[in-house]
Amino acid sequence: MADEPLVLGIETSCDETGVGIVRGHTLLADAVASSVDEHARFGGVVPEVASRAHLEAMVPTIQRALKEAGVAASDLDGIAVTAGPGLAGALLVGVSAAKAYAYALGKPLYGVNHLASHICVDQLEHGPLPEPTMALLVSGGHSSLLLAPDITSDVRPLGSTIDDAAGEAFDKIARVLNLGFPGGPVIDRIAREGDPDAIAFPRGLTGPRDAAYDFSFSGLKTAVARWIEAKRAAGEEVPVADVSASFQEAVVDVLTRKAVRACKDEGVEHLMIGGGVAANSRLRAMAERRCEDAGLTLRVPRPKLCTDNGAMVAALGAEMVARGRSASAWDLSADSSLPVTDPHVPDPNAHTHSHSHSHGHSHDHVHELSRKNLYA
Ligand code: KG4
Ligand code: ZN
Repeated sequence: MADEPLVLGIETSCDETGVGIVRGHTLLADAVASSVDEHARFGGVVPEVASRAHLEAMVPTIQRALKEAGVAASDLDGIAVTAGPGLAGALLVGVSAAKAYAYALGKPLYGVNHLASHICVDQLEHGPLPEPTMALLVSGGHSSLLLAPDITSDVRPLGSTIDDAAGEAFDKIARVLNLGFPGGPVIDRIAREGDPDAIAFPRGLTGPRDAAYDFSFSGLKTAVARWIEAKRAAGEEVPVADVSASFQEAVVDVLTRKAVRACKDEGVEHLMIGGGVAANSRLRAMAERRCEDAGLTLRVPRPKLCTDNGAMVAALGAEMVARGRSASAWDLSADSSLPVTDPHVPDPNAHTHSHSHSHGHSHDHVHELSRKNLYA
């Protein structure tokens, strides 16, 4: 619909420079420039390298997205940007760019939460998010179970990892197996040739006395590394496919088991899985089966929307506009540890909690805000 908000979203929290454009729940452009190759030889993301790459990629990626969407910057109803959590220096590049564009164009600025964006992106694939939605968020930096009654204003953490994130575990095991970085996609691929029951690796925090919704992957990581070391010490060949499949099975088993349990306990009928690890084929298959058995509806976006991208930020920004959430102030800062309970960063000085979405007035609104806050 033409009256749905047209929003550009900028994502720079890690190593992807993402710029997406959406109209309401419709994806118009999803431009991503990744610096992952520059980090590969270090075996992980180097913050300074990521920040510099964002700076170089920012403007060309914005231009590419506008061209892909076939819209003029002046037609936008708002600019959304990941304000956190993420790498401070990397976030800062996106926030600065978003401010510059929003201010120059006279559009409202929406600083949004990276984790809530990973959930909201599913609206571009499967339509409006059911309320409430249970979200299993699994990426290189996070593993959380979140209950979201309203993705723009009410996100409640039920549990999270107490040590490594799920994606981090994939990356570390891939490193031990000399498979390169990032580890998730390559383990996913190699595991298809292996036996997931070959080795019984531990399932962390699944005992009766353990926290029901928290995760732990460091014990698993150590167990897999020791198993590989023992093989190597004995001069035996490491069965890479079997190790990959068995390790992946342990991660996916715990993730899906806890997510389904959370849905049942909370009486929620819809499970959404997001974040880079949601691209994992075994996770998708097991979640599908377990949700079906439990009578739950599963929503997982296509893999390209699961890994970091700008469309997810635009999707959440558009929802903020549609629901009349207040824009951010011009002194919006990047917050590397923005709490998951803050889906966006509203202007602390805004007098109203919501203003209704109106194309004609957004311009005035921005300039009012700018005078008040820019030099505050
Ligand atoms: O969401 P994301 O792109 O960035 C963060 O916010 O962290 O997630 C990246 C993580 C990496 O750890 C990567 O190894 C993992 O997602 N990943 C996967 C797969 N594709 C990416 N893990 C398992 N299987 C995959 N197919
Ligand atoms: Zn992410």
